[in-house]
Amino acid sequence: MSKTILVTGGAGYVGSHCVLEFLQHNYNVIVVDNLVNAVKLENQEMPESLIRVERLANKKLEKYLTGDLKDQQFIDEIFANNHIDIVVHFAALKSVGESVAKPLEYYENNVSGTINLLKSMRKSKVTKLIFSSSATVYGDPEVLPLVETLPTGQTCTNPYGRSKHMVEVVLKDLCKSSPEWSVMSLRYFNPVGAHSSGDIGEDPQEIPNNLMPFVTQVAVGMRPELKIFGGDYNTPDGTGVRDYIHIEDLSNGHLKALEQITTELWKDFHPINLGTGRGYSVLEVISTFESANGVKIPYKIVDRRPGDVTELYADAKLANEKLGWTATRDMYDMCASAWKWQSKNPKGYKRD
Ligand SMILES: NC(=O)c1ccc[n+]([C@@H]2O[C@H](COP(=O)([O-])OP(=O)(O)OC[C@H]3O[C@@H](n4cnc5c(N)ncnc54)[C@H](O)[C@@H]3O)[C@@H](O)[C@H]2O)c1
Repeated sequence: MSKTILVTGGAGYVGSHCVLEFLQHNYNVIVVDNLVNAVKLENQEMPESLIRVERLANKKLEKYLTGDLKDQQFIDEIFANNHIDIVVHFAALKSVGESVAKPLEYYENNVSGTINLLKSMRKSKVTKLIFSSSATVYGDPEVLPLVETLPTGQTCTNPYGRSKHMVEVVLKDLCKSSPEWSVMSLRYFNPVGAHSSGDIGEDPQEIPNNLMPFVTQVAVGMRPELKIFGGDYNTPDGTGVRDYIHIEDLSNGHLKALEQITTELWKDFHPINLGTGRGYSVLEVISTFESANGVKIPYKIVDRRPGDVTELYADAKLANEKLGWTATRDMYDMCASAWKWQSKNPKGYKRD
């Protein structure tokens, strides 16, 4: 019988791509989202991203619920009223800059929201969780590539990263408290790009905090130029280096995680990097974007952004060994798909 997955934050960028992958592989999916970073158009019952996901999958969600993880009663009721096998937990606030200005909101949403979810899960004896963690838990690294056994939390540079680290600490302690739990903490590097259809993609509701949506918004004429934060890093061209991962590789990583989490091997807490293992500088991303899409990206190098680190890239071996997963798409695919989405949807999910 098909398993039922509760997906929190499923209307967002990563969530919507994963929900599509899950529906296409015959999982029943219940999505909960508070719409803090998703678009629901007037007279629609679901966020636009999920309407498109259902169309692409040619399959319906089992249920969509608008609601907030900060509301314990609401979460309790979801578990009381539905049979759920596995939870995939994307819901979080994710802007590094905003987290510095609003630490309490970030800790409340990301840490307390997760604790509420875990309490409801425990009450209903649902003990399998796939958590969206982040490379930011490694902080400002002393060694590269970043391997899962390195210490985390000690050099986190902002409340967002610390909130992800705190949740990992909670999850580890929870797994220690009872052998029933199986938790995979997927540490994403930098997810970019869009589904090959160009119908779903990243649609930040504020000024983009990440490079690729900024690039595509400049390309489409929404913004005059790209600001590159720092041209004096100790890297070959002076700009920061990151490990970018195509969103479809990332969603495939979640599918592998779902397929495996029910086996005994995954009892306890398991952090796993999802990255390619290869770093690209900002200037390399821009030049690949320009050649993949035939579009010019005007840019200006400005001061470094507080909290940014020089270079991050993953050791991606564990995901390969344990999940049988490896990223297959390159920077060209990432840039081409990001542009396909943005040029097909200049205003993102909004119609006007
Ligand atoms: N995109 C990245 O670069 C990146 C990198 C590393 C980790 N992550 C993590 O992956 C997850 C998904 O990221 P994303 O890029 O899809 O972000 P997103 O903002 O597009 O999606 C998150 C979704 O969660 C919802 N949400 C937030 N707080 C909620 C709450 N309290 N209750 C219910 N819904 C809530 C939002 O409305 C949104 O639809 C997040 O946990 C994020 O921290 C993202």
